[in-house]
Amino acid sequence: MKFYKLSPTERRKVLQEKGVELSPITSQLLKNLNNLSENVVGSISLPLGLVENLLVNGKEYMVPMATEEPSVIAAANHGSKIFARHGGVSVINRRDGIYGQIVLQVNNDFKLEDLNKKVPELINLTNNNFASLVHHGGGVRKITSKQENSLVYLKVLVDPAQAMGANKTNAILEFLANTLLDFTGVEEKLFAILSNYPSQLATGKVSLPLTSVGGKEVAQKIVLLSEIGMQDPYRGATNNKGIMNGVDAVLIATGNDFRAVEAATAVLASENGYHSLSNWKIENNQLIGELTLPMPIGVVGGSISVRQDIQDSYQILGKIDSETLASIIIGIGLANNLAALLAISTAGIQAGHMSLQARNLVATLETSDKNKEVILKKMRKSKRYTLEDAQNFLQELEEKK
Ligand code: MEV
Repeated sequence: MKFYKLSPTERRKVLQEKGVELSPITSQLLKNLNNLSENVVGSISLPLGLVENLLVNGKEYMVPMATEEPSVIAAANHGSKIFARHGGVSVINRRDGIYGQIVLQVNNDFKLEDLNKKVPELINLTNNNFASLVHHGGGVRKITSKQENSLVYLKVLVDPAQAMGANKTNAILEFLANTLLDFTGVEEKLFAILSNYPSQLATGKVSLPLTSVGGKEVAQKIVLLSEIGMQDPYRGATNNKGIMNGVDAVLIATGNDFRAVEAATAVLASENGYHSLSNWKIENNQLIGELTLPMPIGVVGGSISVRQDIQDSYQILGKIDSETLASIIIGIGLANNLAALLAISTAGIQAGHMSLQARNLVATLETSDKNKEVILKKMRKSKRYTLEDAQNFLQELEEKK
Protein backbone atom coordinates (compact mmCIF):
# COMPACT_ATOMS: atom_id res chain seq x y z
CA MET A 1 0.00 0.00 0.00
CA LYS A 2 1.13 3.58 -0.66
CA PHE A 3 2.78 5.19 2.38
CA TYR A 4 0.23 8.01 2.58
CA LYS A 5 -2.63 5.49 2.62
CA LEU A 6 -1.27 3.78 5.76
CA SER A 7 -2.48 4.67 9.25
CA PRO A 8 0.02 6.73 11.31
CA THR A 9 0.81 3.64 13.42
CA GLU A 10 1.53 1.63 10.27
CA ARG A 11 3.73 4.43 8.94
CA ARG A 12 5.70 4.41 12.18
CA LYS A 13 6.16 0.65 11.79
CA VAL A 14 7.55 1.10 8.28
CA LEU A 15 10.04 3.64 9.62
CA GLN A 16 10.94 1.36 12.50
CA GLU A 17 11.71 -1.45 10.04
CA LYS A 18 14.09 0.94 8.33
CA GLY A 19 15.86 1.50 11.65
CA VAL A 20 14.29 4.90 12.47
CA GLU A 21 13.56 5.08 16.20
CA LEU A 22 10.76 7.59 16.78
CA SER A 23 9.89 8.94 20.23
CA PRO A 24 6.83 7.33 21.85
CA ILE A 25 3.43 8.95 21.29
CA THR A 26 -0.06 8.00 22.49
CA SER A 27 -2.34 6.51 19.85
CA GLN A 28 -5.01 9.11 20.66
CA LEU A 29 -2.63 12.01 19.99
CA LEU A 30 -1.40 10.35 16.81
CA LYS A 31 -5.00 9.96 15.65
CA ASN A 32 -5.82 13.58 16.42
CA LEU A 33 -2.73 14.84 14.61
CA ASN A 34 -3.47 12.66 11.62
CA ASN A 35 -6.69 14.61 11.18
CA LEU A 36 -4.74 17.87 10.98
CA SER A 37 -2.08 17.01 8.44
CA GLU A 38 -0.85 14.36 6.00
CA ASN A 39 1.60 11.49 6.18
CA VAL A 40 1.72 12.01 9.94
CA VAL A 41 4.23 9.90 11.89
CA GLY A 42 4.65 11.84 15.13
CA SER A 43 4.59 15.21 16.77
CA ILE A 44 6.97 18.04 17.56
CA SER A 45 6.40 19.99 20.74
CA LEU A 46 7.51 23.44 21.81
CA PRO A 47 7.76 24.95 25.26
CA LEU A 48 4.75 27.13 26.08
CA GLY A 49 5.76 30.08 28.24
CA LEU A 50 3.97 33.15 29.53
CA VAL A 51 4.18 36.88 29.54
CA GLU A 52 2.69 37.69 32.90
CA ASN A 53 1.32 41.13 32.28
CA LEU A 54 0.94 42.91 28.97
CA LEU A 55 -1.10 46.09 29.23
CA VAL A 56 -2.85 46.75 25.90
CA ASN A 57 -5.48 49.41 25.31
CA GLY A 58 -5.97 49.72 29.07
CA LYS A 59 -6.43 45.99 29.78
CA GLU A 60 -4.01 43.50 31.28
CA TYR A 61 -3.37 40.15 29.58
CA MET A 62 -1.38 37.03 30.34
CA VAL A 63 0.08 36.04 26.99
CA PRO A 64 1.02 32.49 25.93
CA MET A 65 4.13 32.17 23.76
CA ALA A 66 5.43 29.01 22.08
CA THR A 67 9.12 29.14 21.24
CA GLU A 68 12.26 27.10 21.65
CA GLU A 69 14.58 30.11 21.62
CA PRO A 70 15.90 30.97 25.07
CA SER A 71 15.53 34.67 25.94
CA VAL A 72 12.49 35.39 23.73
CA ILE A 73 9.95 35.07 26.54
CA ALA A 74 12.31 36.73 29.02
CA ALA A 75 12.67 39.65 26.58
CA ALA A 76 8.90 39.89 26.06
CA ASN A 77 8.35 39.97 29.84
CA HIS A 78 11.06 42.60 30.26
CA GLY A 79 9.57 44.90 27.62
CA SER A 80 6.00 44.32 28.82
CA LYS A 81 6.92 45.22 32.40
CA ILE A 82 8.36 48.55 31.27
CA PHE A 83 5.23 49.23 29.17
CA ALA A 84 2.85 48.29 32.01
CA ARG A 85 4.49 50.82 34.35
CA HIS A 86 3.89 53.61 31.82
CA GLY A 87 0.39 53.27 30.46
CA GLY A 88 0.90 50.17 28.31
CA VAL A 89 0.58 49.83 24.54
CA SER A 90 -2.12 51.63 22.54
CA VAL A 91 -3.10 49.74 19.41
CA ILE A 92 -5.28 50.84 16.54
CA ASN A 93 -6.57 48.11 14.24
CA ARG A 94 -7.65 48.53 10.63
CA ARG A 95 -9.31 45.18 10.14
CA ASP A 96 -10.83 45.90 6.73
CA GLY A 97 -10.43 42.33 5.51
CA ILE A 98 -8.01 40.19 3.54
CA TYR A 99 -7.38 40.37 -0.17
CA GLY A 100 -8.20 37.84 -2.81
CA GLN A 101 -7.15 37.90 -6.41
CA ILE A 102 -8.89 36.71 -9.55
CA VAL A 103 -7.12 36.90 -12.87
CA LEU A 104 -9.17 36.30 -16.01
CA GLN A 105 -8.13 35.84 -19.60
CA VAL A 106 -10.38 37.98 -21.82
CA ASN A 107 -10.91 38.63 -25.55
CA ASN A 108 -11.83 41.78 -27.52
CA ASP A 109 -15.54 41.55 -26.62
CA PHE A 110 -14.71 42.15 -22.94
CA LYS A 111 -15.53 45.62 -21.53
CA LEU A 112 -14.07 46.58 -18.16
CA GLU A 113 -16.70 49.34 -17.66
CA ASP A 114 -19.46 46.76 -17.98
CA LEU A 115 -17.80 44.54 -15.40
CA ASN A 116 -17.34 47.50 -13.02
CA LYS A 117 -21.05 48.32 -13.35
CA LYS A 118 -21.82 44.78 -12.28
CA VAL A 119 -19.68 44.93 -9.11
CA PRO A 120 -22.48 45.83 -6.61
CA GLU A 121 -24.58 42.98 -8.02
CA LEU A 122 -21.61 40.57 -7.77
CA ILE A 123 -21.00 41.56 -4.13
CA ASN A 124 -24.69 40.98 -3.29
CA LEU A 125 -24.80 37.67 -5.08
CA THR A 126 -21.66 36.42 -3.30
CA ASN A 127 -22.76 37.63 0.12
CA ASN A 128 -26.14 35.91 -0.33
CA ASN A 129 -24.31 32.73 -1.21
CA PHE A 130 -22.05 32.98 1.87
CA ALA A 131 -24.80 33.97 4.28
CA SER A 132 -23.20 32.33 7.32
CA LEU A 133 -20.09 34.52 6.96
CA VAL A 134 -22.34 37.58 6.66
CA HIS A 135 -24.25 36.34 9.72
CA HIS A 136 -20.94 36.31 11.66
CA GLY A 137 -20.27 39.92 10.65
CA GLY A 138 -18.11 39.33 7.57
CA GLY A 139 -18.56 39.22 3.80
CA VAL A 140 -17.21 40.69 0.58
CA ARG A 141 -16.57 44.42 1.10
CA LYS A 142 -15.06 45.67 -2.12
CA ILE A 143 -14.07 44.55 -5.61
CA THR A 144 -11.72 46.62 -7.76
CA SER A 145 -10.47 45.80 -11.22
CA LYS A 146 -7.82 46.63 -13.78
CA GLN A 147 -7.05 45.36 -17.26
CA GLU A 148 -3.61 44.76 -18.73
CA ASN A 149 -3.89 43.62 -22.36
CA SER A 150 -5.83 40.36 -22.32
CA LEU A 151 -5.63 39.92 -18.54
CA VAL A 152 -8.17 41.30 -16.09
CA TYR A 153 -7.14 41.54 -12.43
CA LEU A 154 -9.82 41.63 -9.77
CA LYS A 155 -8.91 42.55 -6.21
CA VAL A 156 -11.52 41.31 -3.78
CA LEU A 157 -11.57 42.48 -0.18
CA VAL A 158 -13.16 39.88 2.13
CA ASP A 159 -13.93 40.54 5.79
CA PRO A 160 -13.46 37.13 7.42
CA ALA A 161 -15.05 38.21 10.75
CA GLN A 162 -13.36 36.39 13.67
CA ALA A 163 -11.45 33.89 11.51
CA MET A 164 -8.23 34.30 9.58
CA GLY A 165 -10.41 33.44 6.61
CA ALA A 166 -8.08 31.78 4.09
CA ASN A 167 -10.41 28.89 3.23
CA LYS A 168 -13.52 31.02 3.16
CA THR A 169 -11.84 33.64 0.97
CA ASN A 170 -10.67 30.98 -1.48
CA ALA A 171 -14.18 29.55 -1.64
CA ILE A 172 -15.60 33.04 -2.31
CA LEU A 173 -13.03 33.70 -5.03
CA GLU A 174 -13.78 30.41 -6.76
CA PHE A 175 -17.49 31.22 -6.65
CA LEU A 176 -16.95 34.70 -8.07
CA ALA A 177 -14.57 33.48 -10.76
CA ASN A 178 -17.02 30.78 -11.88
CA THR A 179 -19.82 33.36 -11.99
CA LEU A 180 -17.66 35.61 -14.15
CA LEU A 181 -16.99 32.88 -16.69
CA ASP A 182 -20.44 33.73 -18.16
CA PHE A 183 -19.49 37.40 -18.57
CA THR A 184 -19.12 38.61 -22.15
CA GLY A 185 -15.55 38.32 -23.37
CA VAL A 186 -14.22 36.21 -20.48
CA GLU A 187 -12.38 33.25 -21.96
CA GLU A 188 -10.99 31.56 -18.89
CA LYS A 189 -10.08 31.96 -15.25
CA LEU A 190 -6.29 31.92 -14.81
CA PHE A 191 -6.46 31.77 -11.05
CA ALA A 192 -8.59 32.70 -8.08
CA ILE A 193 -6.80 32.65 -4.73
CA LEU A 194 -6.31 34.78 -1.65
CA SER A 195 -3.38 37.18 -1.63
CA ASN A 196 -0.92 37.37 1.24
CA TYR A 197 -0.33 41.04 0.52
CA PRO A 198 -0.36 43.05 3.81
CA SER A 199 -3.88 43.45 5.19
CA GLN A 200 -5.66 43.69 8.56
CA LEU A 201 -3.03 46.24 9.64
CA ALA A 202 -2.50 47.03 13.31
CA THR A 203 -0.37 49.86 14.73
CA GLY A 204 0.92 49.86 18.31
CA LYS A 205 2.45 52.77 20.16
CA VAL A 206 4.20 53.20 23.52
CA SER A 207 5.29 56.41 25.17
CA LEU A 208 7.91 55.96 27.90
CA PRO A 209 9.77 58.33 30.20
CA LEU A 210 13.51 58.30 29.39
CA THR A 211 14.25 57.07 32.92
CA SER A 212 12.31 53.86 32.17
CA VAL A 213 15.15 52.69 29.90
CA GLY A 214 17.96 53.97 32.11
CA GLY A 215 18.10 57.63 31.08
CA LYS A 216 18.62 59.95 28.13
CA GLU A 217 21.88 58.39 26.93
CA VAL A 218 20.41 54.89 26.55
CA ALA A 219 17.23 56.30 24.98
CA GLN A 220 19.33 58.19 22.42
CA LYS A 221 21.20 54.99 21.59
CA ILE A 222 17.89 53.18 21.07
CA VAL A 223 16.80 55.94 18.69
CA LEU A 224 20.10 55.76 16.83
CA LEU A 225 19.79 51.98 16.48
CA SER A 226 16.27 52.48 15.18
CA GLU A 227 17.47 55.05 12.62
CA ILE A 228 20.22 52.69 11.45
CA GLY A 229 17.60 49.95 10.99
CA MET A 230 15.60 52.31 8.77
CA GLN A 231 18.53 52.84 6.38
CA ASP A 232 20.62 49.70 6.67
CA PRO A 233 18.92 46.44 5.66
CA TYR A 234 21.50 44.38 7.57
CA ARG A 235 20.38 45.95 10.85
CA GLY A 236 16.76 46.25 9.65
CA ALA A 237 16.49 42.50 9.09
CA THR A 238 17.88 41.73 12.56
CA ASN A 239 15.62 44.29 14.20
CA ASN A 240 12.64 42.68 12.46
CA LYS A 241 13.76 39.19 13.42
CA GLY A 242 13.66 40.30 17.06
CA ILE A 243 10.09 41.57 16.58
CA MET A 244 9.03 38.33 14.86
CA ASN A 245 10.56 36.31 17.72
CA GLY A 246 7.69 37.51 19.88
CA VAL A 247 5.04 37.78 17.16
CA ASP A 248 5.56 34.22 15.84
CA ALA A 249 5.63 32.77 19.35
CA VAL A 250 2.12 34.13 20.05
CA LEU A 251 0.89 33.18 16.57
CA ILE A 252 2.04 29.60 17.13
CA ALA A 253 0.57 29.45 20.63
CA THR A 254 -2.79 30.67 19.32
CA GLY A 255 -2.90 28.31 16.30
CA ASN A 256 -2.49 31.07 13.74
CA ASP A 257 -0.82 30.88 10.35
CA PHE A 258 2.57 32.46 11.10
CA ARG A 259 3.69 31.91 7.48
CA ALA A 260 0.93 34.23 6.26
CA VAL A 261 1.95 36.95 8.74
CA GLU A 262 5.65 36.50 7.87
CA ALA A 263 4.97 36.70 4.11
CA ALA A 264 2.87 39.86 4.47
CA THR A 265 5.35 41.40 6.91
CA ALA A 266 8.22 40.90 4.45
CA VAL A 267 6.28 42.95 1.87
CA LEU A 268 5.64 45.75 4.36
CA ALA A 269 9.29 45.84 5.42
CA SER A 270 10.38 46.06 1.76
CA GLU A 271 8.28 49.08 0.82
CA ASN A 272 10.67 51.81 -0.43
CA GLY A 273 13.72 49.66 0.33
CA TYR A 274 14.03 47.10 3.12
CA HIS A 275 13.82 48.72 6.57
CA SER A 276 12.95 48.20 10.23
CA LEU A 277 9.27 47.69 10.96
CA SER A 278 9.49 49.56 14.25
CA ASN A 279 10.41 53.14 14.81
CA TRP A 280 11.77 54.76 18.01
CA LYS A 281 12.12 58.50 18.55
CA ILE A 282 12.38 60.99 21.41
CA GLU A 283 9.63 63.60 21.60
CA ASN A 284 8.85 65.91 24.53
CA ASN A 285 11.27 63.98 26.72
CA GLN A 286 9.46 60.70 26.04
CA LEU A 287 10.79 57.66 24.19
CA ILE A 288 8.10 56.84 21.62
CA GLY A 289 8.01 53.42 19.98
CA GLU A 290 5.73 52.48 17.08
CA LEU A 291 5.13 49.28 15.18
CA THR A 292 2.75 48.47 12.32
CA LEU A 293 2.25 44.88 11.18
CA PRO A 294 -0.21 43.02 9.00
CA MET A 295 -2.29 40.77 11.28
CA PRO A 296 -4.31 38.36 9.12
CA ILE A 297 -5.20 36.25 12.13
CA GLY A 298 -8.25 34.76 13.80
CA VAL A 299 -9.51 33.30 17.06
CA VAL A 300 -11.74 30.67 15.39
CA GLY A 301 -11.51 28.52 12.28
CA GLY A 302 -8.64 26.45 10.88
CA SER A 303 -7.38 24.02 13.49
CA ILE A 304 -7.90 26.44 16.39
CA SER A 305 -10.97 24.86 17.98
CA VAL A 306 -9.93 21.23 17.47
CA ARG A 307 -6.50 21.50 19.07
CA GLN A 308 -6.51 21.08 22.84
CA ASP A 309 -3.01 22.60 23.20
CA ILE A 310 -4.18 25.72 21.38
CA GLN A 311 -7.33 25.90 23.49
CA ASP A 312 -5.06 26.06 26.57
CA SER A 313 -3.65 29.30 25.16
CA TYR A 314 -7.13 30.77 24.74
CA GLN A 315 -7.93 29.88 28.33
CA ILE A 316 -4.83 31.79 29.42
CA LEU A 317 -5.81 34.79 27.28
CA GLY A 318 -9.44 34.76 28.37
CA LYS A 319 -12.30 35.35 25.96
CA ILE A 320 -10.94 37.63 23.24
CA ASP A 321 -11.83 38.60 19.69
CA SER A 322 -9.43 38.67 16.75
CA GLU A 323 -8.96 42.43 17.02
CA THR A 324 -7.82 42.09 20.63
CA LEU A 325 -5.49 39.22 19.77
CA ALA A 326 -3.99 41.33 16.97
CA SER A 327 -3.43 44.15 19.48
CA ILE A 328 -1.78 41.77 21.95
CA ILE A 329 0.56 40.42 19.27
CA ILE A 330 1.62 43.94 18.27
CA GLY A 331 2.28 44.69 21.96
CA ILE A 332 4.47 41.60 22.28
CA GLY A 333 6.36 42.49 19.08
CA LEU A 334 7.11 45.96 20.47
CA ALA A 335 8.09 44.49 23.87
CA ASN A 336 10.56 42.07 22.28
CA ASN A 337 11.92 44.87 20.14
CA LEU A 338 12.47 47.25 23.06
CA ALA A 339 14.12 44.54 25.18
CA ALA A 340 16.55 43.74 22.34
CA LEU A 341 17.37 47.40 21.64
CA LEU A 342 17.85 47.99 25.35
CA ALA A 343 20.20 45.03 25.70
CA ILE A 344 22.21 46.07 22.63
CA SER A 345 22.43 49.66 23.87
CA THR A 346 23.67 48.61 27.30
CA ALA A 347 25.35 45.30 28.26
CA GLY A 348 25.25 43.89 24.70
CA ILE A 349 22.96 41.09 23.63
CA GLN A 350 25.38 38.27 24.31
CA ALA A 351 25.39 38.61 28.09
CA GLY A 352 21.70 37.81 28.50
CA HIS A 353 21.55 35.29 25.66
CA MET A 354 24.50 33.25 26.83
CA SER A 355 23.24 33.12 30.38
CA LEU A 356 19.90 31.70 29.19
CA GLN A 357 21.52 29.36 26.70
CA ALA A 358 23.76 27.97 29.45
CA ARG A 359 20.71 26.05 30.68
CA ASN A 360 20.50 24.17 27.36
CA LEU A 361 24.19 23.31 27.51
CA VAL A 362 23.97 22.10 31.09
CA ALA A 363 20.97 19.92 30.20
CA THR A 364 23.21 17.86 27.88
CA LEU A 365 25.59 16.88 30.75
CA GLU A 366 25.29 13.40 32.17
CA THR A 367 24.94 14.22 35.84
CA SER A 368 22.28 14.70 38.53
CA ASP A 369 19.77 17.58 38.43
CA LYS A 370 21.35 18.91 41.62
CA ASN A 371 24.80 19.03 39.99
CA LYS A 372 23.30 20.71 36.93
CA GLU A 373 21.88 23.49 39.10
CA VAL A 374 25.27 24.03 40.77
CA ILE A 375 27.06 24.10 37.40
CA LEU A 376 24.54 26.57 35.96
CA LYS A 377 25.05 28.90 38.92
CA LYS A 378 28.83 28.68 38.54
CA MET A 379 28.61 29.45 34.80
CA ARG A 380 26.42 32.47 35.38
CA LYS A 381 28.58 33.77 38.23
CA SER A 382 31.81 33.42 36.26
CA LYS A 383 30.16 34.44 32.95
CA ARG A 384 31.77 31.38 31.34
CA TYR A 385 29.24 29.86 28.98
CA THR A 386 30.82 27.28 26.66
CA LEU A 387 30.19 23.54 26.76
CA GLU A 388 33.83 23.13 27.73
CA ASP A 389 33.26 25.46 30.71
CA ALA A 390 30.25 23.36 31.75
CA GLN A 391 32.30 20.14 31.47
CA ASN A 392 35.14 21.67 33.49
CA PHE A 393 32.74 22.69 36.27
CA LEU A 394 31.35 19.15 36.27
CA GLN A 395 34.84 17.69 36.53
CA GLU A 396 35.60 20.03 39.47
CA LEU A 397 32.42 18.83 41.21
CA GLU A 398 33.27 15.19 40.66
CA GLU A 399 36.83 15.67 41.87
CA LYS A 400 35.56 17.33 45.06
CA LYS A 401 33.54 14.22 45.96
C1 MEV B 1 17.76 37.49 18.48
O1 MEV B 1 16.94 36.37 18.31
C2 MEV B 1 17.04 38.79 18.16
C3 MEV B 1 17.89 40.04 18.26
O2 MEV B 1 19.04 39.91 17.43
C4 MEV B 1 17.03 41.20 17.78
C5 MEV B 1 17.77 42.51 17.59
O3 MEV B 1 18.99 42.53 17.40
O4 MEV B 1 17.08 43.55 17.60
C6 MEV B 1 18.36 40.27 19.65
